[in-house]
Amino acid sequence: MQTEEVKRLYIETYGCQMNVADSEVVATVMQTTGYEMTEEIGEADCILINTCSVRENAEQRVVGRLQELQAMKRGRRVVIGIIGCVAERAKESLFESGADIVVGPDSYLDLPHLVATAEAGEKAINTNLSLTETYSGILPTRTGHSKISGFVSIMRGCNNFCSYCIVPYTRGRERSRPVESIMKELSNMREKGYREAVLLGQNVNSYNYVDEGGIDGKKAVSFAELMAMAAEEFPEMRLRFTSSHPKDMTDETLRVIAKYKNICNHIHLPMQSGSSKILKAMNRKYTREWYMGRIEAIRSIIPDCGLTTDVFCGFCTETEEDHRETLSLMEWARFDNAFMFQYSERPGTFAAKNMKDDVPAEVKARRLKEIIELQGRLSIESNKRDEGKTFEVLVENRSRKSTSDLMGRSEQNKAVVFPAEGHHIGETVRVKVERSTQATLIGKAEE
Ligand code: SAH
Ligand code: SF4
Ligand code: F3S
Repeated sequence: MQTEEVKRLYIETYGCQMNVADSEVVATVMQTTGYEMTEEIGEADCILINTCSVRENAEQRVVGRLQELQAMKRGRRVVIGIIGCVAERAKESLFESGADIVVGPDSYLDLPHLVATAEAGEKAINTNLSLTETYSGILPTRTGHSKISGFVSIMRGCNNFCSYCIVPYTRGRERSRPVESIMKELSNMREKGYREAVLLGQNVNSYNYVDEGGIDGKKAVSFAELMAMAAEEFPEMRLRFTSSHPKDMTDETLRVIAKYKNICNHIHLPMQSGSSKILKAMNRKYTREWYMGRIEAIRSIIPDCGLTTDVFCGFCTETEEDHRETLSLMEWARFDNAFMFQYSERPGTFAAKNMKDDVPAEVKARRLKEIIELQGRLSIESNKRDEGKTFEVLVENRSRKSTSDLMGRSEQNKAVVFPAEGHHIGETVRVKVERSTQATLIGKAEE
């Protein structure tokens, strides 16, 4: 008797939230060829590693991981695939490191064919980039661990070509996903009980969907309009978004955030550097003064807005003076939190081709340490300012430290821990903050 064979798929995801969202698209596509997700890597028939290329160490990890997987196989037939940004950049060379298939971020609809080829014993690759692919026909299978908050890609690619950045090369040109397909995904999440959606793009402020068949001919929808539509359509869901590019962050968008209660008062606004000279070399298209102006607009239009950033030190030609400008801008902006890095030259970028990576490794390391120390103090101070205040917290999980405590996030995206006392995951609870650490606000639910 023949039984339908169920094959198991294991996906490992590295890099940004976009990759988390993409892995869910991949899970859906693979289900159409009879693959079901497993959490047990040992029982997988296909292992896909969704990779990040943004810094060199992220990419090196992929080769190490491939070697581990080879050793783990021990004669068993398993298809091993490298997908995502490293696949796009390193292409065929990954076959030498042990990959069976190599699939770039715009080629996931081709996965069934590529996996079937590998099952038949041949190597397969597709790293074509597309001007149109947005996976708008796919309703992603939610594989993330949170059943409360999920990611929704609203656009793909990037056209900004910051001189240090690999993303425009690995992700291709910017394109906005149709409004209707975004709304459909949000509606599907609501049905599944999700209470929060994070709308994703490399630069969400430049979202612009042109509907050729609009009622009066062409109709374009901006990011501010999209957010307003989503906020009205899904009043019971919290909406977040990331990342915002300072050059495109308009007052109109800020006013929409301020107007709708269900759009969280939190903005992630990557500054990268506090020196106008370095920002120019980075091709960020704004100055220190412009960045400060945007923060002033945020503080005046959205009171109590959480503010986080990305910053990296040691870019080409960065002097001690430039570095001090980064520190002073961080101090002035009083960020709640930051992702902090040191410059890593990426092959093929404008900087790699035309600029000298001239800040010595030990100087980069020391500057990064200073940045991390400063942000540590700023986070402590920011959390101290919240003591005594009350926040609406969407509970996402039990606390890692104690099962009698719950963990959730404030609108400002800060982690808040409090005793459960009858409250549960998925509920929005008003919590009064009593004390804090660098990473967490700790309080009690209000009666
Ligand atoms: N699109 C987002 C950022 C995507 S990459 C934006 O423009 O804000 C995430 C972060 O990685 C960047 O904000 C930057 O701080 C950092 N980054 C990008 N390229 C880098 C490089 N070559 N070296 C070090 N950090 C880098
Ligand atoms: Fe990279 Fe700049 Fe695009 Fe962000 S905006 S993804 S940093 S090129
Ligand atoms: Fe990394 Fe690609 Fe995201 S390079 S940061 S996974 S877009």
